[in-house]
Amino acid sequence: MKSLPRYGVPVPTPLLLCADPLRPTRCDPHFAAQAAVARSLGAGVALVDHDALLAGRAGEAVRRVPQGLGPLWYRGWMMTAEVYADLGAALEERGARLCTTAAMYRSAHELPSWYETFADVTPASAVMPCRPGLPPTAAELADLASALPPGPGVVKDFVKSRKDDWDGACHLPDLADTAAVHRVVSRFVALQEEFLTGGVVLRAFESFDRAAGEARVWWLDGERLAITAHPDTPGLLPRPDLTEIQPLVRRLGCRFVTTDVARRTDGAWRVVEVGDGQVSDLPSGIDPAAVLAPLIRRR
Ligand SMILES: Nc1ncnc2c1ncn2[C@@H]1O[C@H](COP(=O)(O)OP(=O)(O)OP(=O)(O)O)[C@@H](O)[C@H]1O
Ligand SMILES: [Mg+2]
Repeated sequence: MKSLPRYGVPVPTPLLLCADPLRPTRCDPHFAAQAAVARSLGAGVALVDHDALLAGRAGEAVRRVPQGLGPLWYRGWMMTAEVYADLGAALEERGARLCTTAAMYRSAHELPSWYETFADVTPASAVMPCRPGLPPTAAELADLASALPPGPGVVKDFVKSRKDDWDGACHLPDLADTAAVHRVVSRFVALQEEFLTGGVVLRAFESFDRAAGEARVWWLDGERLAITAHPDTPGLLPRPDLTEIQPLVRRLGCRFVTTDVARRTDGAWRVVEVGDGQVSDLPSGIDPAAVLAPLIRRR
């Protein structure tokens, strides 16, 4: 784990990766390629027990992190902003510090925190906080939908959709059809179970060029790091125009973020969602060094 500082060459910032639940001293196989790349670039790799973290046992989750590690970038499974704050506090007790603060994590991870900044370049959205298992009433949804332009929409929570159940729990063919909106949103909330994050977001549907796919644009300190495919469509790599988007990423004020960008059928490049770069997945087939090499040079 120790790396000797060479004169004039900054010590690479270590990565904190998720441990394999079955072999806790090893990296989760999903992140093994990233661990190998980090090591080959001279960066240390520490492991966190993601299950213990989600179960509220942050101290136990970081017990394998060496003492006094200093700044760290996390790369792993997503977690709520509250759990991320617990992770940061537990690491600080061991002399380590997440380069992305808990406030920054929430800003990029949860739609209501990034929406205002990106409002000109992302589908119109209306947010209603609610708890797992307790969907808004039909009347509340009618009120929420009335804040959006008429026409079709989609539903998601503050972080994730049920895009794989497009007709049953994601797509809203007509925001004015309150009974149908209530049915789809209720199914969405039920399927999210206890993982429903924050509440419900209704978004105006925009017509994207689906054959072109989405680009996942990676940003570090407001500069573009890399453009990859979206993990759902690893073979498609659109080349977005980011002129309008880059100043907004800077305004958000987070260190390491992603923007998923799609081309609307009228040609406009639109931000489908913003994410924290630490929990954004890489598409298969890409060399993780494209993102990790510049990342570990920052602290
Ligand atoms: N407002 C919209 N108009 C049209 N299509 C949309 C809209 N919002 C989402 N979609 C479609 O649904 C997909 C999933 O939406 P979104 O990316 O917001 O959810 P997610 O579950 O967070 O996905 P990810 O796997 O990228 O984290 C998008 O990739 C896009 O194809
Ligand atoms: Mg998405």
